[in-house]
Amino acid sequence: MSPQIVDLRSDTVTKPTAGMRAAMAAAEVGDDVYGEDPTVNDLQAYVADLFGHEAALYAPSGSMANQIALQLSVPRGSELLCDGDAHVVTYEIGAAAAIGGISTRTWPACGPDIDVDLVASLVRREGFGVPTRAIAVEQTHNQGGGGVIPFETLQRLRIIANDAGIGVHCDGARIWHAHVADGVALRSYGELFDTMSVCISKGLGAPVGSLVISSAEKIARARTLRKRMGGAMRQVGVLAAAGRYALDHHIDRLADDHARAHRLAEAFAPLGLVDPARVRTNVVMLDMTKHPLDAPGVVAAAKAEGVRVTAMAPRLVRMVTHLDLDDAAIDRAIEVLTPILSR
Ligand SMILES: Cc1ncc(COP(=O)(O)O)c(C=O)c1O
Repeated sequence: MSPQIVDLRSDTVTKPTAGMRAAMAAAEVGDDVYGEDPTVNDLQAYVADLFGHEAALYAPSGSMANQIALQLSVPRGSELLCDGDAHVVTYEIGAAAAIGGISTRTWPACGPDIDVDLVASLVRREGFGVPTRAIAVEQTHNQGGGGVIPFETLQRLRIIANDAGIGVHCDGARIWHAHVADGVALRSYGELFDTMSVCISKGLGAPVGSLVISSAEKIARARTLRKRMGGAMRQVGVLAAAGRYALDHHIDRLADDHARAHRLAEAFAPLGLVDPARVRTNVVMLDMTKHPLDAPGVVAAAKAEGVRVTAMAPRLVRMVTHLDLDDAAIDRAIEVLTPILSR
């Protein structure tokens, strides 16, 4: 029998559990383009309420949810301000510009450690060139090693946005992880943002799905934007049921994923590749700048022994813990990676 693959590439690789599959099979469905899928409608109302907002809209991916939200706040030809490593400007393949006509200006990539005064100085007011219409933050910060932006930083950004009369969007693909790590209530996060995207297929274990969250007026517009982008689906309650199951069963257990990520960090800290104090959630980044192996070299060596990790950059390796990895899988990853990383 071949040994089990330990897949640490992403928390998107999980398979639906038996309970989730049963919920999907039992879902009541209807045509969601007509607004007639009761399971989708329930999920949207439930998620909006979790964050204390008026409405939410189901979208097929986090990227689409982000791009819909950005188009709600940033009119064509105006500016979005965000981190240089934000998912919305790196991994969404130019969508803000190509689809939304949005001009993006970034502050130097800093993960969760946002310099609020710097952001304030970058906001461009009307009459001084392309006007800034929104600030985007990412909670947790993916490229920033799953870092959690402190709640106080977000409150200060909200004040800046209020002063400037602009919006704040949160890419909350992994906001559940921040909620579990810092104990900040989901509603408290919700109060700070005009628009949010939250994902039920990263870490929470649903096969598909994200939601855009905002006011009823903005979500009505979001329905049109989603349709335009080809994201309106029909009997999609089978997927929404998986999302609801994930929210009901898989939030609290994220603490286990965080503990397992911390174990990985502790194991590789003596090699000088990671500071465990920076590992707050389910992402572990290994800094390979001074190592004889580069990131693709680590990926290849680990893969040959059944452990999958990601090269995020030529000298940056990412490992992500999730629902489908138990303590034994983490033991195996440490056993395989330690000799590779000790070279
Ligand atoms: C922080 C963040 N935002 C958005 C997304 C986009 O999600 P999707 O892959 O569903 O488009 C991801 C994907 O991993 C992500 O990590």
